[in-house]
Amino acid sequence: MNEGPGDDGGRHGDEEGASRADAADAGVAHRGFETRAVRAGFQRTPYGEHDEPIFLTSSFVHDSAAHAAAKFAGEADGYIYSRFGNPTVRLFEQRLASLEGAEECRATASGMAAIQAVLVSLTRAGDHVVCAQGVFGTTIQLFGLFRRYDIETSFAPLADVQAWCDAIRPNTRMLFVETPSNPLTEVADLRALSAIARERGIVLVVDNCFCTPALQRPLELGADVVVHSATKYLDGQGRVIGGAVLGSKRYVDELLQPVLRYGGPTLSAFNAWVLAKGLETLSVRMERHAQNALAVARWLEAQPAVGRVRYPWLESHPQHALARAQQRAGGAVLSFEVRGADDADRKARAWRIVDACGLLSITANLGDVKSTITHPASTTHGRMPIETRREAGIGEGMLRVAVGLEDVGDICADLARGM
Ligand SMILES: Cc1ncc(COP(=O)(O)O)c(C=O)c1O
Repeated sequence: MNEGPGDDGGRHGDEEGASRADAADAGVAHRGFETRAVRAGFQRTPYGEHDEPIFLTSSFVHDSAAHAAAKFAGEADGYIYSRFGNPTVRLFEQRLASLEGAEECRATASGMAAIQAVLVSLTRAGDHVVCAQGVFGTTIQLFGLFRRYDIETSFAPLADVQAWCDAIRPNTRMLFVETPSNPLTEVADLRALSAIARERGIVLVVDNCFCTPALQRPLELGADVVVHSATKYLDGQGRVIGGAVLGSKRYVDELLQPVLRYGGPTLSAFNAWVLAKGLETLSVRMERHAQNALAVARWLEAQPAVGRVRYPWLESHPQHALARAQQRAGGAVLSFEVRGADDADRKARAWRIVDACGLLSITANLGDVKSTITHPASTTHGRMPIETRREAGIGEGMLRVAVGLEDVGDICADLARGM
């Protein structure tokens, strides 16, 4: 991959020194996905605990002055300070790296911290980014903020490969895509985008939040960097905020690590423990989420009050074949249009469905075992200029459901109440 602007990597010769003792992969690197999800990254302490411990400590002690000096100089392994290394955080990083098939992973305090760190690590003033239209609204806001540092972003329709080519400029450093997208569930052709990026020395970054490595592995499809809002399906039960960046060892060591160490968007050890435990059940959860979502999507397609239903595993989805070629299942998130005479009427009818829900939670979060419902135009995407929102295809009648693990009949009955 193109490594972006030069940097000394920040790992050597500074006051902090090398910080991590690399944990072993627990001998499971060659095992199946489910085995790695349960066991990768765990190094048992001399106490012989069966379950992964939490290291709630801000700093670590050294054997002697000489040992401290060696660690600070990067000449000896060992943890120093939890802002830039902690055994529980390392457990989560190694487990996730194993599942995504990445050489390296760094955890962050949130998904947005991960995206910001990637942007800072890959760009400098005067650079340009191409981002998919219709990605998570806050991602668009974040890229907008960086205009003040002379980093400009253009937006390309996610599924139109030619539009991505047309948007690329000589100073483009990064392509950023979320697939399937939120809330439209559009699917980007990752193999095609990676070929375009490689040819031009540009870095392809994929937000793999909706699928997780259980359903899609972007690095295997040619992406250079994967980001996660671990808050979503990696946790899976709506408990903690977290994020992660995955890529080559060289990218992480040389470009990302200094941004994280000096910027300090560190994941707490407690949250890392929750997320590492979340990964243990990722595969079974994602499989059932996808089964339930497909059943709800098919039911919605049969409702007279509902117009278009968007879900990648529906035959009616425009990129159904592509989704099947790069995903293992459709994921948990679907969206649908409520029919109405005009924008105001569609919005009123959509809100009525939300307000009538007794079971589905009215929250903009997703990635939970509890089903959630939201009206993107007035919540997650409410701060987008109305024109941009329209261009991105997020109408006033659109509702997004992140289908959870409740009984499917109960979920459909709840949605039917306000129709
Ligand atoms: C696709 C996607 N990426 C990134 C984020 C941001 O993650 P976080 O809320 O953990 O910062 C979200 C949050 O909803 C999201 O849906």
